[in-house]
Amino acid sequence: MTTPSFRVIAFSGSLRTGSSNTALVRLAQRIAPPELQIEWIDWVDQLPWMNPDLEEHPPETLLRWWQTLRECDALIVGMPEYNWNPTPLAKNALDWATRPPDDRAIADTVVAFLGSGGRGGTAKAQENLSVILGYMGATMVVDPPVQLSFVADKVDADGSTDDQSIIDAVAAKLAAVVTALHERAARHEAEALDS
Ligand SMILES: Cc1cc2nc3c(=O)[nH]c(=O)nc-3n(C[C@H](O)[C@H](O)[C@H](O)COP(=O)(O)O)c2cc1C
Repeated sequence: MTTPSFRVIAFSGSLRTGSSNTALVRLAQRIAPPELQIEWIDWVDQLPWMNPDLEEHPPETLLRWWQTLRECDALIVGMPEYNWNPTPLAKNALDWATRPPDDRAIADTVVAFLGSGGRGGTAKAQENLSVILGYMGATMVVDPPVQLSFVADKVDADGSTDDQSIIDAVAAKLAAVVTALHERAARHEAEALDS
């Protein structure tokens, strides 16, 4: 039996050159199991600011974002926290992902956050988004959480690190994503049989 391969996309909510959240996503790419192909999306900063008026004639980047989301099985986000909230970049991309209201691009997507922040480790940003994205039809991989505090100097921009606890945390999240993807595939199979 061949191992199924899942298409995963990933972006970072931080534009900072030395971003630790970008580094966590790079680490995820480095250590991903063979069945996860993680494609880096580096253009979410080109999405327009949320404005539902744009949905009447969606600009090219927005159409591309919706299409990319619909074609993937899972989304991984490097999720920084600014003032107890997601960064505007991450929030904007995820708000657009919940549109259009009659055919939400994020629906049926497995979503996981990798967070690096200050004392709270981005827990507040992750908590709010997890509730609302779940409500919008995404399958949120909440556990085990990756909510790391003060690790910015422990992981390089390319995702390399000597800190085994960071590697273990990201690996555990990826394992949970794989489990969620297998459950989703089984669900799809059952639905196809029923129809
Ligand atoms: C405006 C601002 C607000 C911040 N607020 C929080 C916060 O509420 N919670 C937190 O954990 N870290 C907070 N931080 C610290 C960032 O999480 C930290 O700088 C982190 O490394 C940023 O992610 P990055 O390395 O991917 O750029 C804040 C940083 C800035 C610049």
